[in-house]
Amino acid sequence: MNGSDFTHRVCEAYSKIENPRVNALVQSLIKHLHAYVQENSLTEKEWEFTWDFLARMAKFTHEERNEFLLAADVLGVSQLIEILNHHRPESEVGYALVGPFYRENAPFRARGAAIASDDTAGIRVKIYGKVIDDSTGKPIANAVLDTWQAATNGLYETQDPNQPDMNLRGKFKTDENGNYELVALMPTPYPVPTDGPVGELLKVAHRHPLRPAHIHFIVSASNYETLITQIFVSGDDIVKTDVVFTASDNMMGNFVKENDHYELQYDFQLTLGISTYPEAPIK
Ligand SMILES: [Fe+2]
Repeated sequence: MNGSDFTHRVCEAYSKIENPRVNALVQSLIKHLHAYVQENSLTEKEWEFTWDFLARMAKFTHEERNEFLLAADVLGVSQLIEILNHHRPESEVGYALVGPFYRENAPFRARGAAIASDDTAGIRVKIYGKVIDDSTGKPIANAVLDTWQAATNGLYETQDPNQPDMNLRGKFKTDENGNYELVALMPTPYPVPTDGPVGELLKVAHRHPLRPAHIHFIVSASNYETLITQIFVSGDDIVKTDVVFTASDNMMGNFVKENDHYELQYDFQLTLGISTYPEAPIK
């Protein structure tokens, strides 16, 4: 039996999955996995390395970390899914991967409030603007902005026992004119975790592990597609080599220095559609 007859036989064995979409995905997965093995004439040693690598990734996966999601991020898979699922004009804010540090149930904070506790180090930035309907340009009242960012030590609150619970996370609502305002920290570049197998991959590829400085946002409103995005700092060199391939021209913020703090005006455009919410990697 040659390789392609063999692949056919395996596909046949999985051809009775009732859900047509799941059936198609499983058939395609088998074909592509077999093609990968064939194309590269995978050796037994390489196969041993593969399943051991996956087992080691599992060891680095727990409630507050998902090494598989991180692998998908650094291989560009997560951002590719965003690109394929959201076609928008270049003039609108782009979709970004949600990333491994999103945590659900961040507290609602008052308009203009800070997401950082008072004793959190870092330069403050006032971020304000509008959430608007991208077909009419009209403001959207009661849209929710769910935001999170790392501290200046590069760590999210869940990675850092010295930060209070839910530090640098918060939800804000737009007013009747679609306006929002909040205070965040000037964002800091940080490395993705490199102590696991994904770190080994980055090292052999001579890729730096840094994410350019950014602030995460999920912007939602009823009857609109939920916008998952990140704001980067215009002029930051690391955006060209973002380890997870997310930073792009339609996510740049023009941060302006004002005495002891910065200000950023930034509008988010939403498209009519079904309002959904991403699964949080951290519960
Ligand atoms: Fe992040």
